[in-house]
Amino acid sequence: MHLHRYEKIWLILGAGGLALFILLLCINAFAMGMAPPSNMTMIDPAKVTETPPFDNPGLTKVGEQEYDAYMTAFAFGFAPNKMEVPLGAKVNFHVTSPDVIHGFQIPGTNVNFMVLPGHISSATYTFDEPGEYLILCNEYCGAGHQVMATTIIVK
Ligand code: CUA
Repeated sequence: MHLHRYEKIWLILGAGGLALFILLLCINAFAMGMAPPSNMTMIDPAKVTETPPFDNPGLTKVGEQEYDAYMTAFAFGFAPNKMEVPLGAKVNFHVTSPDVIHGFQIPGTNVNFMVLPGHISSATYTFDEPGEYLILCNEYCGAGHQVMATTIIVK
């Protein structure tokens, strides 16, 4: 089979790009330990509402200006329904789902992750600006997806 010279060059570039991409992916995953913000800690998704601390979702003060927020994302809402923290508070979010895959996004911040049943997804954010922050589900999860939201008030 005869291959044109340009065809060969493009084939090498294409395969080379792919090899480089896979190499970078492996370096990220194995050498730099990158992973999704979930699948590290797991609980039984059928028993979320009975498993502490998710049986009583809410804020716990863990430091001078630091809070742990244990939350559940379910069809169709978040628990707790509303939270309030002082200005400058650092909040460690730990979220899980008892039913289907949901999203957890706070628009205007870099908090944006998926919430999988049985997996505890975590993210930390420091609220340096006062206001009412919307927390919404950005993963289509059913008929009530568009109403699935809660707020965190910072003042
Ligand atoms: Cu939960 Cu969309």
